Amino acid sequence: SRAETAASRDVTTVFQLAQEDSWENVNLTSMSCEDRKNSTWITLQLTNSSLTAFPVCLPEVLETLDLSNNLLEEVNSTEIANLPQLRTLLLRQNCLQAVRWGSEALSSLQYLDLSFNKLSSVPSCHTSSLPNLRWLSLAGNPLTEIQPLAFSCYPRLQFLNLSATLLGQDDSKGIRESAFAISTSPHEARNRPENTINMLDLSGTFLEKSKSPDFPP
Ligand SMILES: *[C@@H]1O[C@H](CO)[C@@H](O)[C@H](O)[C@H]1NC(C)=O
Ligand SMILES: *[C@@H]1O[C@H](CO)[C@@H](O)[C@H](O)[C@H]1NC(C)=O
Ligand SMILES: *[C@@H]1O[C@H](CO)[C@@H](O)[C@H](O)[C@H]1NC(C)=O
Ligand SMILES: *[C@@H]1O[C@H](CO)[C@@H](O)[C@H](O)[C@H]1NC(C)=O
Ligand SMILES: *[C@@H]1O[C@H](CO)[C@@H](O)[C@H](O)[C@H]1NC(C)=O
Repeated sequence: SRAETAASRDVTTVFQLAQEDSWENVNLTSMSCEDRKNSTWITLQLTNSSLTAFPVCLPEVLETLDLSNNLLEEVNSTEIANLPQLRTLLLRQNCLQAVRWGSEALSSLQYLDLSFNKLSSVPSCHTSSLPNLRWLSLAGNPLTEIQPLAFSCYPRLQFLNLSATLLGQDDSKGIRESAFAISTSPHEARNRPENTINMLDLSGTFLEKSKSPDFPP
């Protein structure tokens, strides 16, 4: 209830919403929670708003949610699971220290920007919590290590940005062996969808060379 109070305070800010191609500013505070959930906006931008909690009562048909440049410290999949159509979630420049993926599969999510937060590890999860995620940016987070099987819950990842992280700093472990492995069981790994990361940005890190034998081609 504390989060809810904070969130309803936060929505006094005017949301910017898009319906098809046109943008409009809408004051969601004047709408009831039911009406907001039932509205047909598919894109919502709530940036630079000092938001400290994930907003509640968002339109259920939302496909793109931009919460960049706020003060969120934590996000979990329960909140995101209420948005079954969500494909793009932008959380750039917040204060995220934790992102918790639960047992719900967020099957629609394809594009997730977590850059410039305070994450010290790749958010881990249960098997395939994000089965269709293609694009992930963790750039500008204080990651010192990529743990084994770090990406096993993102089996369809194609683009990964680890630029400007602390990988390789002060002899930290950097990218561990099996970091990109999908499973420790060869049988399971063979039966999982192909893991073909075709863009990996490691610029601006402290890594001197790649030692990991299972580095993606
Ligand atoms: C939004 O609507 C609420 C309630 O109708 C009002 O109190 C508030 O001042 C409005 N905010 C803006 C930014 O217009
Ligand atoms: C939600 O929208 C539908 C269709 O626009 C409408 O029939 C229904 O009554 C609305 N429900 C609520 C709770 O407003
Ligand atoms: C939000 O804040 C950032 C950083 O302070 C600034 O660069 C950007 O222009 C702001 N965006 C809007 C829409 O005000
Ligand atoms: C997820 O966040 C919501 C709202 O902030 C909270 O009520 C819930 O307990 C959290 N769930 C977990 C598993 O942390
Ligand atoms: C990775 O993120 C950094 C910081 O946002 C950006 O400058 C860079 O262009 C990104 N890399 C790619 C390949 O998009």
